[in-house]
This record gives sequence, C-alpha cells and structure tokens, in this order.
Amino acid sequence: MIRVGVLGVGTVGRAVVEILEENAAIISARAGEDIVVKSGAVRDVSKVSDLSIAITTDPYEIINDPEIDIIVELMGGVELPFELLKSALASKKAIVTANKALLAYHRYELQEIAGDLPFEFEASVAGGIPIINALRDGLSANHILSIMGIMNGTCNFMLTKMMEEGVAFDAVLAEAQALGYAEADPTFDIGGFDAAHKLLILASIAYGIDAKPEEILIEGIEGITQADIAFAKEFGYTIKLLGIAKRDGGEVELRVHAALVKQEAMLAKIDGVMNGISVVGDRVGETLYYGPGAGGNATASAVVANIIDIVRSGKRSPMLGFNHPLEEGLRLKSADDIRSKYYLRLRITDKAGILAKITQLFADHAISIEAMIQRPFAQECAHLLISTHEARECDIRSLMKELEALETVLESPYMIRIV
Ligand code: NAP
Ligand code: HSE
Repeated sequence: MIRVGVLGVGTVGRAVVEILEENAAIISARAGEDIVVKSGAVRDVSKVSDLSIAITTDPYEIINDPEIDIIVELMGGVELPFELLKSALASKKAIVTANKALLAYHRYELQEIAGDLPFEFEASVAGGIPIINALRDGLSANHILSIMGIMNGTCNFMLTKMMEEGVAFDAVLAEAQALGYAEADPTFDIGGFDAAHKLLILASIAYGIDAKPEEILIEGIEGITQADIAFAKEFGYTIKLLGIAKRDGGEVELRVHAALVKQEAMLAKIDGVMNGISVVGDRVGETLYYGPGAGGNATASAVVANIIDIVRSGKRSPMLGFNHPLEEGLRLKSADDIRSKYYLRLRITDKAGILAKITQLFADHAISIEAMIQRPFAQECAHLLISTHEARECDIRSLMKELEALETVLESPYMIRIV
C-alpha cells in the first residue's frame, strides 16, 4: 500500500482526497497498488472536520512521517512550500504539486535537488489538461516552434461573461472565486501573473529557458472596458488573455497579455473556465489541447494521475524532461523587439484638427493604421479606437508616451495586442 500526505486540503486538496477514496478501485487497478491518503495539513482544522483522514496544522509532521511515500503539495505560496519540499526530498519522498508560483521561481533548483526522486507537477499548468505530459513526452522528438494559449481559467471565465453577457468586472470575479477557480490572491489571475507562471513552466520544458516572472512581459485584464469589448465585437474579434512562447532563431519571446483574437480562430471559441493551448512542433505541426483549466475536480484529476504514474513507473525522466542544457545559446528575446498588431483606445477632446495631430504621430513612428472609429461619449469628448498593422513593441510604447503628452488626450492610452 502507498501512503500519501497532502499539504493543503483546500479546493484541490479536498478533491484529491475524495477522488482517491471514491475511485479507489480503478486507481488501484491502474497503479497496481492501493493508494490511501494518510494525513493532511491545514491551518484551520474546522474546515476539514468532515474528512476521515488525520489532520495536522504542522506540515513537518507529515514530511517526517516515515510511513508516507508521496507528499502532495497543494498549499500555494512560494517560499514556505519550497522549504517544505526541500525537506521532503531530503527525506526521499516522491513529490506531486500543483503550485505554479513555486515552480515559476524554483523549478530548476527543485529539479537539481530532486535528482532521481519523482517530482511531478502536471496540474500546475492548465488544470486538468495533460499539457506537461504532452510537451515532456508526447512531443519530445520535436523542436517546439511556439506555444500559445489560454492558460488562466479565471480570466477566461471573466472575459467570456463580460463579452457575452455584459457582466461587470467585479461581479464576475466574485463568481470565479466562489467557484474555486481563482488563486487565494486573485490579482495573480487578473494581473496575468498566474498565466505567466504557467508559461514559464512550459517554456522550461520546451526550450530549457530559465527566466523568472520579473523578466518577461506580463499584463492582465484589469484595464479592459466596455468600449474595448464593443470595438472587438464590431471588428469581429473576441478578447482573450494569452500566454505566448515563440521561437525566433536563437531567441525565445515570452509574454502574457490580453489579445484581440479573430472570432473564427480556434482559441476564440474556448470559453468559460476552459483552457486551450496550441503547440507547434517542427515535425508534428500544430497540436491543440483543450479542457477545464481550473476547479477542484479537474485539477485533482491531474494530481491523482501524477500519483498513479509515480506508483507504477520504473525508471523516471528528470523533472523537466532533460538532463543536459536543451539547446545551447537560446536567449530570451527583449520585450521591445516583439512584433504584433495593436489596438489603441484614446479618450480625446473632440475638436477640429485633433485627429490630424494624432495620426501624424502614428506616421512619425512609421506605424500604419489599419482601422479606426470615433465614438462620442460626452460633450466634446470621444473615444478613438484604432487598430494598427504590425509594429514593434518599443515603437508602440514610445508612440503611447507621445500621445499621452498631448493636451487633447484626456487619459493614458490603453493598448491591446492583436493576435
Ligand atoms: P486553497 O483552496 O486556498 O487551499 C489551500 C490549502 O492549503 C488550505 O487547506 C489551507 O489551509 C492550506 N494551507 C495554506 N497555508 C498553509 C500553511 N502555512 N500550513 C498549513 N496549511 C496551509 O487553494 P487551492 O485552490 O486548493 O490551490 C492549491 C494549490 O493548487 C495552489 O498552489 C494553486 O495555485 C494550485 N492550483 C489551484 C487550482 C484551482 O483551480 N483551485 C488549479 C490548479 C492549481 P486553511 O484553509 O486552513 O488556511
Ligand atoms: N487560478 C487558476 C486559473 C487556477 O484560474 O486558471 C488554475 O491554475
């Protein structure tokens, strides 16, 4: 019999305990052994008084229990779980975690410390979708050309409701929290950081890139307004928060931001809490992965699959799927050099000659306008909504600074990239 200790019995931890109990027969058949949860750690024991496992408020009690074979970390946070998992690895325990924030900062150190010990983290990216398995194993014969997708269920749930039902930002965020999709601190979701953590994990497996969240372009969905939604609808787009990793010669660009996506595109059709990720390999071409990206059961499904895999595996691959540097000389592309089409929203004074001034600034930066609409919304005030042809990120940013400095531009310009 294999005994599991669960650090954190919240939304996901509780679902792991329930799946291992309720699906015990098929799990035992697939793993070749019975798997039971021996104990769990929480801060407030009253929240889990209905569960039949032993509960402690001291995670080290579980880590130091010689009967426990596998530690499942589902607490969240970065430094405390890092210390706990180092200690668990020192005690030769196998590890399963869903904690992408931890891995965004410490994945390489953990790989080093884990050595040959099993360390699995499928649920850390895209909840129930086996995307790590696909990248690490199924596509291991390929150079990965790009990874692009919807990696945050909370934002996708919110954007879908805002686009389709016109629900206000705060109300739909509260709904996502109640459904167990959002992080303990939901600014991680809406600020794009959670998606960035996931993108960094995938980029490590695909490219061996060792970047931290602070080094890549991360923007969230907080600034999106009904004016942007109206523009998107009018021009046949939907708005999605995308994580993008793209190989360009010896460089890899990594970015997370809201994007206008053509309504006909596959990614545009991924709605609600669903995640969808496209991976392009040099040999296989494009592959697509779709499924629930958040929620207790969907995430626990991936956690339990990792537990089963550990129990039945013989020789294991290294944590990130490679032993030696993957590709010598691959560098992170500077965010300034990213090229994209852009949408800009300007709030302007609606007077003669203003449009000419604004379009002259576009011309000065050699940025070509693709489409434009002006929407009056108050006395002598209007929204100017502009989409561009492809331009360089640094040119758009310097254009935005100059636009902001114009007296007739009434608030900071807002920008969304077009994919
Ligand atoms: P959650 O509902 O907030 O649960 C966290 C659990 O950890 C709670 O039982 C909490 O206990 C316990 N905990 C936190 N700090 C602790 C400490 N210092 N000592 C002992 N126990 C502690 O979080 P969750 O949604 O299940 O997420 C867990 C992890 O999975 C996170 O890393 C998250 O990013 C990841 N994840 C979540 C989802 C999802 O859809 N929810 C999907 C994929 C990955 P108390 O309740 O007593 O404070
Ligand atoms: N908060 C995350 C999301 C949970 O909404 O996608 C899944 O990782």
